[in-house]
Amino acid sequence: GHLCRIQCYFFTYRTIYFFPPCQCPSATKISRRPPTHCSCKGALLKDFFKNDSGTVRRRQEEYRKHKARTSSSLDLLLVAPANSPLQYPIQGFTVVPLQRTLIPGLGVYAPDREIYKHDTMGNKGYLGYLFIYSCHVSHLTNRSGAILKLSLVASRGLLSVEEPGTDGLVEGDGGNQLDITALSASGLNALLGRVHYTSTVYRLRTGDLVHFLFEKHNVTFPVVIQQPSVPIIFDLGEDINSQVTITTKTFLRYLELNTLIYSIRQYYKTMKIIIADDSFDPIKVNGSDIEQYFMPPGQGWFAGRTLAVSQVTTKYFLWVDDDFYFTEQTQIEKLVEVMESMPELDMCVCTQVSAVVGRSGFSYRMTYEEGQEDEGGCLLRFRGPYKETVPGFPQCSLSNVVINFFLARTDSVRKVLFDPRLKRAAHSQFFVDAVGKLLIASCNHITVDHQSKRPGNEQYHSFRKQSENDENRLLYFFKNHFSCINLKAD
Ligand SMILES: *[C@@H]1O[C@H](CO)[C@@H](O)[C@H](O)[C@H]1NC(C)=O
Ligand SMILES: *[C@@H]1O[C@H](CO)[C@@H](O)[C@H](O)[C@H]1NC(C)=O
Ligand SMILES: *[C@@H]1O[C@H](CO)[C@@H](O)[C@H](O)[C@H]1NC(C)=O
Repeated sequence: GHLCRIQCYFFTYRTIYFFPPCQCPSATKISRRPPTHCSCKGALLKDFFKNDSGTVRRRQEEYRKHKARTSSSLDLLLVAPANSPLQYPIQGFTVVPLQRTLIPGLGVYAPDREIYKHDTMGNKGYLGYLFIYSCHVSHLTNRSGAILKLSLVASRGLLSVEEPGTDGLVEGDGGNQLDITALSASGLNALLGRVHYTSTVYRLRTGDLVHFLFEKHNVTFPVVIQQPSVPIIFDLGEDINSQVTITTKTFLRYLELNTLIYSIRQYYKTMKIIIADDSFDPIKVNGSDIEQYFMPPGQGWFAGRTLAVSQVTTKYFLWVDDDFYFTEQTQIEKLVEVMESMPELDMCVCTQVSAVVGRSGFSYRMTYEEGQEDEGGCLLRFRGPYKETVPGFPQCSLSNVVINFFLARTDSVRKVLFDPRLKRAAHSQFFVDAVGKLLIASCNHITVDHQSKRPGNEQYHSFRKQSENDENRLLYFFKNHFSCINLKAD
């Protein structure tokens, strides 16, 4: 933009007098950040869909609808103008759809200037502005008339003034453009203090941009139109059993499952265990405080997780695989403590699963770039957590981890869920879907054991081994709208 250097002047036919103070013409700069191409050094997913123009076309259409659903004028970049004499709300003006609301903080700072002045020699002259831009563009404006005039223009709402008849003249009351005229700034300000906005659209979350014009000044401020939502709060109750439900999914592994349940009951005698079971010949699991849900056979890992989570009634649930084994180090209370200490956390993952990765913890960070509209976004994965730790818990760092032992807020995970289209081991897909939606910490102060692999369960192993590439590729390309993906950590 131009640097604006400014001078006021008073001129007669003989002399020009320059004097401060005065203002530049100012306008809010509004722009949309252009999407930029992104890259993840991996294979381009579109190369796998070259022969499938239907998929490519539908992907574009659905992405446009997604953008329409998730973006609004509130995403635009607004830059406040320099030297503006206008006062208006920049942030925090939120209205309930269809409800009339006072616009707070509107005002004009203009000295009540006279049109005509006399110079020291008694010559009559005009008061005006001379605007000198650093790039040597200059122009001249004369003020005409002794009255002060301003306008407010909305596009998704109506503007009205309480008691429009006093302090000045209001035109367009109740429409989307208000023109206010007064003889003094104090008259204008009295009217501006009574301007109300009523949205004409019922949306859950959207916005409007209101233009506020006064003389050469044109500023824009945002209105957030938002339907307030009802809270959903869980009662923590008195002990760990009313705070946490253990969830797992089993498939053809009752020996392992029974071992897991046995180990849990050593430490948590009455904590509810929810089991999603998609075995071919399901067997009823024995024991109390167990809910076993039978699914159609072979529905898969993610479908089972989603089913199990849908039945949880406690604030948190603990996810375990059916071949894990609790030890005295598996203290769920410690994970609850972490979650309770930082209410923004959605999930805390224990990176210590012995015998899975030795005893060394692992966690990852993921970055996502939106990319250009028709190409799609890029996901990159980096080894190690973020530097930031959970306050009071130096063992817990924020991250976007991938491991199957975690404590999560039930309501948060229900908003992401485990895509039932993924039938087999797809550790990362859930965490990919959760990027930007769930705040995750990875901790290493509690551990769970992994049962040693039992040879001979051929049916189970043959299922686990099946290729997951094609179904994942379609989800990454279409559902996640990626242009490429690189899950090999740097
Ligand atoms: C696309 O079709 C051509 C010709 O039928 C074939 O040679 C090629 O392998 C196909 N490409 C993919 C990615 O399926
Ligand atoms: C005020 O600024 C907005 C956004 O820059 C523009 O759309 C509008 O036309 C301007 N109005 C006038 C009267 O200049
Ligand atoms: C539950 O007990 C019955 C009867 O003892 C037994 O047949 C069945 O296998 C047990 N269930 C599991 C999952 O072990």
